[in-house]
Amino acid sequence: FDSGGSVEATKSTSEVRIVLRNAGSIDPRNLEEYIALDGYQGLAKALRMTPEEVIEELKKSNLRGRGGAGFPTGLKWEFTQKVRSDEKFVICNADEGEPGTFKDRLIMEGDPHSVIEGMVIAGYAVGASKGYIYIRGEYFESVSSLRDAISKAYEYGLLGQSVLGTEFSFDLSVRLGAGAYVCGEETALIESIEGKSGRPRLKPPYPPVSGLYGKPTVVNNVETFACVPPIIDKGAGWFRSIGTQSSPGTKVFSLCGDLVKRGIVEVPMGTSVRDLVHKFGGGIPKGRTLKMVQTGGAAGTFIKPEEMDAELDFDSFKKSGASLGSGVILAIDETHCAVDIAKNLMEFFAHESCGKCSPCREGTRVIVYILDEFSKGRGTVEMFNQLYDISETMEESSFCGLGQSVPIPLRSILDRFKDEFLSHLNSPGCPVGVCEFDKPE
Ligand code: NAI
Repeated sequence: FDSGGSVEATKSTSEVRIVLRNAGSIDPRNLEEYIALDGYQGLAKALRMTPEEVIEELKKSNLRGRGGAGFPTGLKWEFTQKVRSDEKFVICNADEGEPGTFKDRLIMEGDPHSVIEGMVIAGYAVGASKGYIYIRGEYFESVSSLRDAISKAYEYGLLGQSVLGTEFSFDLSVRLGAGAYVCGEETALIESIEGKSGRPRLKPPYPPVSGLYGKPTVVNNVETFACVPPIIDKGAGWFRSIGTQSSPGTKVFSLCGDLVKRGIVEVPMGTSVRDLVHKFGGGIPKGRTLKMVQTGGAAGTFIKPEEMDAELDFDSFKKSGASLGSGVILAIDETHCAVDIAKNLMEFFAHESCGKCSPCREGTRVIVYILDEFSKGRGTVEMFNQLYDISETMEESSFCGLGQSVPIPLRSILDRFKDEFLSHLNSPGCPVGVCEFDKPE
């Protein structure tokens, strides 16, 4: 990847690296290697601009939040900047908990300064002097990599008092989560940093207005922060020349499941599921046939192989039903049963539901119960329809994104594999022989 601008404007089938520009090619523990490759140039340039100009550049770039929701980053920063307050905060959401997602880990371990630089720019733009990186405690290597990078950034005057000799000061520290999926929800994360039980708050107010300790707070994902320095350094126009019009830039994908090559790739927004599975993932191993792909993560949608021309960006869910989410491509081959896949996923949500609201707490448990009955050959058509009714209730009345998003994968697999679910009602039952079928004759 040539940073001079030789990047193809749209829909390239080759990898294009912005976020992973240095990962694998520099020693992440050597700050000078990062600096030698234009590291902290974005920050230096930002400090020569006014905070409003930094935000304007970001708004022009149309960078959208890479945690999954795709909210415009510049707008979020502007909300925070405009609120008058004696104190503001910047938080990096590194509580990467979506099953199958491991992109943020690679960014933090391969190029931690790209995240730190993005956070310092955010602090300058919104008027915050303190930042936290909230990271899942199980990411031992990422924690170590970030702590090392933070201490070096302090040594080099890139953090702390008078950043790069200016009047701007910014302190940064790491906070560890303890493995609760719901703490990736930004308000639960904020509660956790405040030392409380990690349960979501009612939104609005959104964190840009009232976040940590009730102060205006920018919360962005690791990948979002890593996009910021090159945008400021090279300009919004450069960023917009990559990806799609509504979702410029690249996306880092975690490729997992039944693929020949599992791992991380960074490609322009708008890359098709087919390319991700076949070109980058190397197709399906052992000569087997692909049965379905879950795109976007646990809360993403299941699609069938014939739908794989779907191009992934923040609008693809509306256009094709395939969701971008946090950028997971989970390939599932013919040896798996749709009921079993759905049950496994719903057990995850039931386990991770924080219990605060009953639609999510009870809804996930009833869904698991019904799917378990199906897997044992004891399901009914009525129960199948109940899964849709529960989905509707959860979507409309769950307190936070966790419960509200459970229906997305559930309905997508029920819609596409209805026949397979219903075949579990009668002998011989599970068509792939995965489920223990103990319905009495
Ligand atoms: P959301 O749409 O409620 O908010 C997205 C962001 O925009 C938040 O930072 C929010 O504060 C901000 N925002 C939204 N409306 C705003 C307003 N009017 N004023 C100011 N700020 C506003 O979505 P949420 O619940 O934060 O995230 C859902 C996404 O998280 C899903 O798309 C899912 O893909 C993703 N996700 C990612 C995981 C991961 O490990 N990366 C895990 C689980 C879910």
